[in-house]
Amino acid sequence: MSRRDYDYLFKMVLVGDSGVGKSCLLLRFADDTFSESYISTIGVDFRFKTLTVDGKIVKLQIWDTAGQERFRTITSAYYRGSDGVMLVFDKTSRDSFDHIPDWLDEINKYSESSSKVIIGNKQDSSEHIQVDEETGKKFAENRHMHYIETSALSGNQVSLAFEIMARELI
Ligand code: GTP
Ligand code: MG
Repeated sequence: MSRRDYDYLFKMVLVGDSGVGKSCLLLRFADDTFSESYISTIGVDFRFKTLTVDGKIVKLQIWDTAGQERFRTITSAYYRGSDGVMLVFDKTSRDSFDHIPDWLDEINKYSESSSKVIIGNKQDSSEHIQVDEETGKKFAENRHMHYIETSALSGNQVSLAFEIMARELI
């Protein structure tokens, strides 16, 4: 018997435009905190979080990458060897949704085989929504990916997004 304290260890990467809420999703998931103030990620950051999925202990190493173009050469190194990629867009920004295909192309250069989930974040900002659930779902379905809407602010469906990803992998 191994003495590991988990059944699986997966490497996940959060990608998407700057400001969509990648860091906030990770902080909500890992620490159950949220901050209104925006501190753009420089390069990459990571956290570990362990969860139980279907009776299995799954340890996730989650890399949070910078959305800003100028960090692209650094962040791309982290796509390599990732088990799962979480593509995040902001439901209040049509642009961030329109850039998802570009992010997919970028990721596929390094890790074609990893599982992917599309996340429509800032679901709480009801009066500013530019991308509805139907549009997001359809896009993901056409590409055989899971789709989920989250709010890092309220915490709604944040854990579920990571669980979906973990379940794909076990
Ligand atoms: P980069 O590090 O530059 O790539 O950005 P990021 O994707 O990590 O964005 P970040 O998590 O820093 O969030 C950007 C801004 O959006 C912050 O001001 C957050 O407070 C806000 N924000 C993040 N998630 C949510 C959410 O679910 N709802 C609302 N209303 N605001 C959010
Ligand atoms: Mg960030």
